[in-house]
Amino acid sequence: MITKEQIDAAKLPSHIAIIMDGNGRWAKQQGKIRTFGHQHGVTAVRDTVEAAAEIGVKFLTLYAFSTENWSRPKFEIDALMSLLVQTISKETATLMKNNIRLATIGDTESLPSGVYKKLQKAIDETSGNTRMTLVLALSYSSRWEITRAVKAIAAKVKAGDIDPDKIDEATISDHLCTAGWPDPELMIRTSGESRISNYLLWQIAYAELYFTPKLWPDFRKEDLYEAIVDYQGRERRFGKVSEQLNPKHA
Ligand code: IPE
Ligand code: IPE
Ligand code: MG
Repeated sequence: MITKEQIDAAKLPSHIAIIMDGNGRWAKQQGKIRTFGHQHGVTAVRDTVEAAAEIGVKFLTLYAFSTENWSRPKFEIDALMSLLVQTISKETATLMKNNIRLATIGDTESLPSGVYKKLQKAIDETSGNTRMTLVLALSYSSRWEITRAVKAIAAKVKAGDIDPDKIDEATISDHLCTAGWPDPELMIRTSGESRISNYLLWQIAYAELYFTPKLWPDFRKEDLYEAIVDYQGRERRFGKVSEQLNPKHA
């Protein structure tokens, strides 16, 4: 088993993004309904947030509800929304204790107003915390985010505030929900699916992708350590050749 001590503090990803997948299958394996899996997913969230903060990760972005998830049965959506409210209420004290700031990305105004208000309250309360930022992607999809950014930039061009010739990659990044944050260096998806499902498409351009068969409710601190150690064993070339990165071995 991988331990925390095997992590190289000098090569720590500053931002880890996770697609928390497999709650429904986990529940089904136990002969339970899907929402049982979501409830147990909260334990995995708690463990992962704690582990990331302890290690020194600065941003942890969790995909909790996608734009496409609005197409699920109403019963499941309602259960997820009430779980969200309960969890925020319960966990805000822990976030304060651990000096963790809560933030969201996504079309959170489309969430039920009770959920939105609870979220805003927790975001306000934790806004001064500095150890780590926990970002929940809620009613989020990357294409929604990019479309919104394009609209905002177009409006500024129209108003004469942006010169179209000066639009560069930074202009785009600055109009995404993640403006000002580092891009994730590591993206983890649980449950064995090898796809991105409309998550942070712009931001993960050069992220290392890590897929694990573990279902989300079973994900624990050690699984996060394992993903980080795997990430640290990779050579991130950013288009260069290996010899440029390791001149002494050339
Ligand atoms: C991830 O688990 C949680 C959400 C998408 C809200 P799923 O609910 O997608 O579980 P599976 O993939 O059907 O097992
Ligand atoms: C992605 O999981 C979204 C979240 C984890 C919130 P899904 O289960 O919705 O993704 P697909 O539909 O299998 O691609
Ligand atoms: Mg799924």
